Amino acid sequence: MKKESFFSKRLQDVSYAIREFVPIAKEVEKTKKVVYLNIGDPLKYDFKTPDYIKEALVKAVRNDKNFYADSQGVLELREAIAERENKNNVSITPDDVLVTMGISEGIMAVFASLLNPGDEVLLPGPAYPLYIDASKFFGAKFITYKCDENLGWQPDIEDLQAKVSEKTKLIVVINPNNPTGSLYEKSTLKKIVDIAAQFDVPIVSDEIYDQIVYEGETTPLASISDDVTVIGLNGFSKLHLVTGWRMGYIYIKSPDEELKNQIYQTILKYLMFRLSAHTPSQFALAEVLRGEQKHVEELVKKLKERRDYVYRRIEEIDGLSAVLPKGAFYIFPKIETKGAWKDDKEFSLKLLKEMGVFVVYGSGFDPTYGKDHFRMVFLPPVEMLEEAMDRIEKFLKKHSG
Ligand SMILES: Cc1ncc(COP(=O)(O)O)c(C=O)c1O
Repeated sequence: MKKESFFSKRLQDVSYAIREFVPIAKEVEKTKKVVYLNIGDPLKYDFKTPDYIKEALVKAVRNDKNFYADSQGVLELREAIAERENKNNVSITPDDVLVTMGISEGIMAVFASLLNPGDEVLLPGPAYPLYIDASKFFGAKFITYKCDENLGWQPDIEDLQAKVSEKTKLIVVINPNNPTGSLYEKSTLKKIVDIAAQFDVPIVSDEIYDQIVYEGETTPLASISDDVTVIGLNGFSKLHLVTGWRMGYIYIKSPDEELKNQIYQTILKYLMFRLSAHTPSQFALAEVLRGEQKHVEELVKKLKERRDYVYRRIEEIDGLSAVLPKGAFYIFPKIETKGAWKDDKEFSLKLLKEMGVFVVYGSGFDPTYGKDHFRMVFLPPVEMLEEAMDRIEKFLKKHSG
């Protein structure tokens, strides 16, 4: 057996930066306490799934909602999702919705359904790494459009315009953004929609953080885009504190009814392979979506305090600077100083090994627009963030210059 040809070529270039250093962190843990700031999972810290959401799941199980569901998702949940999106001025019906096992599966399903080798996908630079990996996996070329740090990480419209071509299959927008925490202005979104309309390219709009916003409001892209096809992605993991349930959804809105149906059916074909998403969770979340979701206010309030703390500390540390995140729970500081590291990857690795602080290197989110940065979550309680920031400060004092 030839080992080189035994394994799938598709996975050769794929690497998910957020979890890449996990084995190293486990080693470091043998000698010191590691502060994990790499994964966007609120449940790894002091956030818990609200009791009423847990109860809804138990109820669904007790009510025998334990069968395989339809591949597009149960009608009750698709109805609740359509209602939610309608309230956001996105006019869709339950028949435009597909329930997925997290947005992660949604991304794979959309890319699997629409991309052919050689296609180009425009991604924000920097971007959530799964978009980069999924593009590579399906043989497409990912091209990042600049998001400008000097403009609060807003997409640079001229750069986007210059990079759209005949080969562009999809434009991806992540708003509020991971990893920068940027909230896109409505006028910027409108310009993106105009470019998409001009080139007749569908937009994939990932809005998983749409209700985790500290200043301003998210504009759902599909609410301002009557003349382009929008494939919306959203989910429950973060807002409803159910990361482990693996629940998300896709919706399609298009001025071209036939195209919309074709996209829907193609994605559904893919989703049929995996039979269905987790059925009890679907019934539980249908109930939750229709309820008051009282926990959200407290969640956002807590996160805002943590954001403010981390931002202030970063601003005070020599050698770091950051844009204040307006949404999500990530901050993307710039490493302003030269030091005992050759690049941001080595910076993060050394920080982990020496200080036990686990952040994700910026070039893992884009080699061009992410370099010389790192991403950290501000999910932990302030005491833990204080410990992490003290260690980062010490590291920079020791090694920079
Ligand atoms: C922008 C973005 N999209 C999608 C996901 C995947 O979320 P899930 O698969 O839990 O819905 C994440 C998770 O961090 C994310 O930040």
